[in-house]
Amino acid sequence: MLPTIDLQDDAIIMVDQRKLPAQEIYVRCRTAPEVAKAIRTMVIRGAPAIGVAAAYGIALGMKRSTAKGTRQFAVDFQKTCDLMAGTRPTAVNLFWAIDRMKRAFAEGAQAGESTDELIARLEREATAIHDEDVANCRAMGGHGAQIVPDGARVLTHCNAGALATAGYGSALGVIRAAVEQGKRIAVFADETRPFLQGARLTAWELVREGINTTVITESMAGPLMRAGEIDLVVVGADRIAANGDTANKIGTYTVAVMAKEHNIPFYVAAPLSTIDLSTPDGDHIPIEERDQREVSHLGASRLTPAGANIRNPAFDITPHRYITGIVTERGILRPPYSESLKQAFAQLAGA
Ligand code: MRU
Repeated sequence: MLPTIDLQDDAIIMVDQRKLPAQEIYVRCRTAPEVAKAIRTMVIRGAPAIGVAAAYGIALGMKRSTAKGTRQFAVDFQKTCDLMAGTRPTAVNLFWAIDRMKRAFAEGAQAGESTDELIARLEREATAIHDEDVANCRAMGGHGAQIVPDGARVLTHCNAGALATAGYGSALGVIRAAVEQGKRIAVFADETRPFLQGARLTAWELVREGINTTVITESMAGPLMRAGEIDLVVVGADRIAANGDTANKIGTYTVAVMAKEHNIPFYVAAPLSTIDLSTPDGDHIPIEERDQREVSHLGASRLTPAGANIRNPAFDITPHRYITGIVTERGILRPPYSESLKQAFAQLAGA
């Protein structure tokens, strides 16, 4: 399986996703600020992967804490959580993972654990978040493979693969599982301006596994649908609101509208950790606005004339009415999402 992120004694190792596919370079983060920087600068990206990185970053940060006594240790812990929470605003998995780490800390503190015991507890929790994400991706693949017919030509946007998760992927996990079942699948990967996650990362993942992959620019998706060359769309998500409205990489909304126009099923694949029942609808999801340079430049080369205004919202909202189904680790949720999402959590709580 692809190496996205790993905890090794005194460091967190991540493949530098800014450098792929030209170079496969591994970055070692030795402190919590280094992990926070890696998330902010997209060394690691993708909603579930960001959550795992933040959890490991908190565990590592507390291992390095020089606090004398549990009271100072608790102050350091809160600061480290705040540092991680300030990295990227849209993917809710980040906040979900930080909350889990806070609960683990609170349980340990309540039990009167020493700082060493708390450190061990935080490391166990971060590792559990990592391992559960891989298991959830595999479960999503198991459920999602049924929506992919043999011979399907599947469009995906951005990278919702092994690189965006702890491994295996959400949207690409669905595709991988269908391929593992022996289905012949062709994937169209939107290049995904401006960071090119589709062209660089999705294509890299799929090609190295021998999966038939065609990279297109976003603007080609509509015409290909009209020409009858796309059978299905599967994308990931950064945050799914209680009514099913979904934030994902900028450009997803356009794909969803196009899919509806051409009667093509449009699925979102995401673990329950991406579903945020406390956010009522898409209008309440914060959308990250990233550096203008990502749009104005390609590497060191300037693309736009100096003086042109630039916008760079990194995500958009796909209203729930465009979504055929949401593939989760607990099955495929169907409209009305305000019911099915709530039910999935109720079942989880009762399990
Ligand atoms: O800005 P990114 O690269 O972090 O955005 C990633 C996406 O939009 C993915 O589609 C989403 O996080 C799902 S990843 C399983």
